[in-house]
Amino acid sequence: MQVSQMAAGLSGSEIIRIGNQVSEQVRQGANICNLTIGDFDPAIFPIPAELNAGIQQAYQQGHTNYPPAAGISELRQAISEFLKTRQGLEYGPNDILIAGGSRPLIYATYRALVDPGDRVIFPLPSWNNNHYCHLTGAMPVAVDTLPENNFMPTAADLAPYLADATLLALCSPLNPTGTVFTKEGLEEICDLVLAENKRRSTHEKPLYILYDQIYWLLTFGNTKHYDPVSLRPELRDYVVYIDGTSKCFAATGVRVGYSFGPTAIIEKMKSILGHVGAWAPKAEQVATAHFLTETAAVDAFINGMKTKLQDSLVAFLRA
Ligand SMILES: Cc1ncc(COP(=O)(O)O)c(C=O)c1O
Repeated sequence: MQVSQMAAGLSGSEIIRIGNQVSEQVRQGANICNLTIGDFDPAIFPIPAELNAGIQQAYQQGHTNYPPAAGISELRQAISEFLKTRQGLEYGPNDILIAGGSRPLIYATYRALVDPGDRVIFPLPSWNNNHYCHLTGAMPVAVDTLPENNFMPTAADLAPYLADATLLALCSPLNPTGTVFTKEGLEEICDLVLAENKRRSTHEKPLYILYDQIYWLLTFGNTKHYDPVSLRPELRDYVVYIDGTSKCFAATGVRVGYSFGPTAIIEKMKSILGHVGAWAPKAEQVATAHFLTETAAVDAFINGMKTKLQDSLVAFLRA
């Protein structure tokens, strides 16, 4: 069958392939702790009861029509407040875009910023940036990291590649290692990006950062999450954040992701995803908007998640 070059060259998800191989071995009786796909068994990790009830109620109330392209305003408002209180970040509802999980938002970030042939830098190991590069015709620049740096990139690792790049795709806490940037480590990278953008003329596209922090609410113990704009507010015009409810609320099948960043970029991402039609279902949006404002329920749920995750980690290490 003749298909586009892009479609012909697509490769499947590596992690799903490995996940299937592991599932097959488990089926044959092997005793394996499957850490491949970042999904949750709903029998052990159900979504928050309040969210579950809210979704059912929203369907009963008839929230079954198209949501607005950017996401319902109540949810963008709730996320704006959530970001302010939980992360100290000031993003208004117009700086926030909702989508059907965070994947479409990563795609939209690439689409809004990267032209075919543009260089996208991402550290290895990395989650799916190779595929987003392929989908958008970007030139991938994969940069190796070291175990002694917790598999996180350092400024020195990235510096040689920044001069002619359009996008630096970072993730912390990192899939697949669960490791995070240190404050100093991320600050040094932020300073490099600021210096690079000072060097570029106003006619050139700046160097942008895609910052995927989808796991950040699950950090526990002494681990602290850092993000570029909190550390260097001057970076605000250059950073698009990827975030969402899939992991922190064990809600991978509920499909409510969000992104925030410079208003003009978010506006373009909204137009791109509007054509794709990758909205989060409206009833889920209504319920999530309500749930995010229930601070005590959110805290209780996230604390419970962390305890269960820590318990499984300890059980795994003892096994
Ligand atoms: C780092 C990272 N970003 C984004 C996603 C996608 O999340 P979603 O299910 O909300 O599309 C995943 C899923 O595994 C992930 O690991």
